[in-house]
Amino acid sequence: MRVRVALYGAGQVNQAVAAILAARRGVDILGPFRRADRKVALASGAEVVIVATTSFLADIAPDIEEAIENGSNVIVTAEEAAFPKAVDERIARKLDKIARRREVTILGAGLNPGFAFDALVLTATGAAPSVDSLLIERVVDLSGFGEVVLRRIGIGFTADEFQAGTTDGSITGHIGFPQSMRIVADRLGVEIDRIERVIEPLIAERSHEGRHVSVAAGMTAGFRQEYKAIVGRSPWFVAKFLGHLDPVSYGQPPRDRIELRGGSPIVLEISPGLNPQISAPAIVANSIPRVMTAEPGWRTVGELPPATPW
Ligand SMILES: NC(=O)c1ccc[n+]([C@@H]2O[C@H](COP(=O)([O-])OP(=O)(O)OC[C@H]3O[C@@H](n4cnc5c(N)ncnc54)[C@H](OP(=O)(O)O)[C@@H]3O)[C@@H](O)[C@H]2O)c1
Repeated sequence: MRVRVALYGAGQVNQAVAAILAARRGVDILGPFRRADRKVALASGAEVVIVATTSFLADIAPDIEEAIENGSNVIVTAEEAAFPKAVDERIARKLDKIARRREVTILGAGLNPGFAFDALVLTATGAAPSVDSLLIERVVDLSGFGEVVLRRIGIGFTADEFQAGTTDGSITGHIGFPQSMRIVADRLGVEIDRIERVIEPLIAERSHEGRHVSVAAGMTAGFRQEYKAIVGRSPWFVAKFLGHLDPVSYGQPPRDRIELRGGSPIVLEISPGLNPQISAPAIVANSIPRVMTAEPGWRTVGELPPATPW
């Protein structure tokens, strides 16, 4: 296979994707491009454009539109793009329509959302005669994330600032749990009635010198969040996440755990947990063949075969 791949966004993810692709035969890598070279990246007509810039659908919609109008398939890491119609149905429909007309595919991909809380969960359900409910737990070492992402998810604030930020939306915690829940529900034919969220700061008892940010004692070094997708009156999908700059010293080593509850419960444990800096770019790079061969339109990871190295 010979493929041209353009990378828009020159941050952590796309730098790592470029490194993975550089080791593969038959890939012409264009970029990673910064904002100033937006046009070059998106109008390149490459077989695949990878957009790794921000988390929000409204921000990346014009970029996706430009790339698909130019005949490129698009892989996008924005968490909200993993299941876009639950965020903004108008944008999702519009881009899905353009993609079908241009006979290309859009895919929101990554580790979480995109794998740990959805694609991997769906694969595990294949081994269960039935699934009544799900509990997913993930503990992540946040020290490898860049400063912009860390500030947005809530690291380096006082407890009051964290409270105010999560209330006004400027601090998001980990984005993408509702998307994962809806990917799984969509595939299993479950109707979610509502999704509830609880998020609380983890205040540092000592200072933490991270690779990208330093946090003084008394500031947030992590957070704990829990999302519950409710069906009827009961939690159907519970997703627990703990992120910390030094989770081992906090007594919570990184791990992933998927528990499928039903007649024959299944528990999957991954230890140490999947590393975001390694696995997110790998899933993106490994998604190139499946996005090129998928049915046109905006697809979710629940609709496509697994991503595999090629
Ligand atoms: N689904 C998943 O599992 C997953 C995994 C990893 C990352 N993500 C998400 O993917 C995004 C990229 O991650 P990252 O770690 O690479 O972030 P990063 O290191 O902060 O890099 C982001 C890059 O995109 C640029 N950028 C930011 N906002 C932009 C916009 N509105 N338009 C154009 N360019 C923009 C930045 O340029 P400047 O330096 O000029 O601002 C920077 O080059 C983040 O939102 C992250 O949350 C999702």
